[in-house]
Amino acid sequence: MKSFICLVIFFFAGLGHAYGASHFRICAFNLHSFGEAKAKKSSVMRTLTQIIARCDVTLLQEVRDRKERALSELLERLNRFQAEHRYQAVASQRLGRSDSYQEQYVFVYRADTATVTGHYQSPDNRPGDVDAFAREPFVVRFRAPKTAIKEFVLIPQHTAPANTSKELDALYDVLQDVRKMWKTEDVMLLGDFNADCAYAKRKREKLQLITDKNLHWLIADETDTTVRASTSCSYDRIVVHGQRFASAVVPSSAKAFNFQMEYGLTEEQALEVSDHYPVEVLLKNGAHKLLPSFFGDLSRETEQKMFKSFSCFFLSPLVVQTLTW
Ligand SMILES: *[C@@H]1O[C@H](CO)[C@@H](O)[C@H](O)[C@H]1NC(C)=O
Repeated sequence: MKSFICLVIFFFAGLGHAYGASHFRICAFNLHSFGEAKAKKSSVMRTLTQIIARCDVTLLQEVRDRKERALSELLERLNRFQAEHRYQAVASQRLGRSDSYQEQYVFVYRADTATVTGHYQSPDNRPGDVDAFAREPFVVRFRAPKTAIKEFVLIPQHTAPANTSKELDALYDVLQDVRKMWKTEDVMLLGDFNADCAYAKRKREKLQLITDKNLHWLIADETDTTVRASTSCSYDRIVVHGQRFASAVVPSSAKAFNFQMEYGLTEEQALEVSDHYPVEVLLKNGAHKLLPSFFGDLSRETEQKMFKSFSCFFLSPLVVQTLTW
């Protein structure tokens, strides 16, 4: 009898995990020149919508939407595609050294799971290296009450391939500024860092962004974030700062999302969408915090096993009593 009840409890605990407690997904996607031309291709827009609708927050890069119609078209499609969520966007100014080539950082987010509590355009006035960035970070702070971390800051970066190392150094300084300014350790850096292959020129041990022990690089160096079968480079990255944020991440959930395979596209069709895969990571939900603190830094699986055994241990006699009463 007791083992049967335990089975029942296991079953519901499993259901709770599968349905009640969905994780919070953060994505970063280089859209390879997103503007009017792409917005006109409905198959491309359909795939983009499918990809972005998977995420609670998506950083879009290479948004080159001069007439500012492509982004609103994308938002309309997202809101039609998933009526249970409300998608909104917060965008930087157009950034770039020349008038002829500019990009925006855009964060698309589900207004029902996240709200913007602050944003800040980094001024790019690093002493001795003014104008270090081709596209200086547009920093956004989100509040996501259902996540274990509750509130966090995202620092986006799409480096210029020719200056990757220098820009990653400057990015480290932006991280320090943001920590001081907003008095928070809970910061994530994400985007197309061009941090691999021909563009990662400087030795790794010379980059503070890599050597600082408080920074956790979640996308492995072997990950291929490029669509072309002929290339394998880990350009797009997600890096979290601090132990607290690192422990709020679902272990091993950071990956590139191979939308070509997922949606059965040819390489040519996938390249119409972008030459990059998005990268993504899951945040644990707030229920995580309900577990007693002595569980500490155990993996989620271990926690769940322990939680279930505890439930059986404490609840079974109660249930047996009720049933035999
Ligand atoms: C690289 O950095 C130098 C010096 O700051 C700058 O003049 C140049 O325009 C940068 N190149 C690119 C492609 O951003």
